[in-house]
Amino acid sequence: MHKRGEPITMLTAHDFPSAHVADQAGMDMVLVGDSLAMVSMGLEDTSEVLLEEMILHCRSVARGAKSAFIVGDLPMGTYEVSPEQALQSAIRMVKEGRVHGIKLEGGAEMAPAIEKITTAGIPVLAHVGLTPQRQNALGGFRVQGKTTAGALKFMADAIAVQEAGAFAVVVEAVPAEVAGLVTKKLRIPTIGIGAGNGCSGQVLVQVDMSGNFPPGRFLPKFVKKFGDVWGEAQRAIQTYRTEVKDRSYPAPEHTYPIPKEEYEEFERMIEASNRA
Ligand code: KIV
Repeated sequence: MHKRGEPITMLTAHDFPSAHVADQAGMDMVLVGDSLAMVSMGLEDTSEVLLEEMILHCRSVARGAKSAFIVGDLPMGTYEVSPEQALQSAIRMVKEGRVHGIKLEGGAEMAPAIEKITTAGIPVLAHVGLTPQRQNALGGFRVQGKTTAGALKFMADAIAVQEAGAFAVVVEAVPAEVAGLVTKKLRIPTIGIGAGNGCSGQVLVQVDMSGNFPPGRFLPKFVKKFGDVWGEAQRAIQTYRTEVKDRSYPAPEHTYPIPKEEYEEFERMIEASNRA
């Protein structure tokens, strides 16, 4: 697709149904992102999620996505210590999580880990620009590459992960012009999120783009709400509640029949046992 200039589509999935729907809708790649810490586990940020928890989610996604290339995120603390630690974690994601490749955050400093993992035959998707696992060091969720120096660092990081063997690189929250120019300089595809239309593909978090959240929730500028899953689920659940309360559900068509004579015999037997 990259060679043909066809945009690559990627979407997060965190469990069997979200993977199934993304796969059936034709996503090229499915990402079991550590964003699941916040959107599926209700945690404050992504730093708390464990490798074991990521593996559990990956296993469910792998059963739901049959065509898409599945990438699992290495969570914070499972790959930064050494290339050996990174490879061990990556192997667990593939062997136990059943993903096809892994993603890790970081630029030039992660090159030795990327080399180690890829030489063991595990495809690596790198992630540069805004790296949410490092939000405390970055001063929060801030756009990266907004100055000449920042843009140069972003480009150096993207080239470093390419040279280390990453098959593609997620580019998060970088000005569109910068991401577009760096995409042209790279051999590998860039998968943008908040990085404009000049990237080789795009990734979004499924609950965000499908509108599976209550009204009023903060959304990053780059998110487009393509659906209203929350609204539809609310409508369905509220209607179910009303129909249970007013006994219009279940209707006869939702029940199992019994032959009339069997039921009458059953009634007679109950009455007889009551008299005894
Ligand atoms: O964790 C995640 O979902 C991600 C994407 C936003 C790229 O890293």
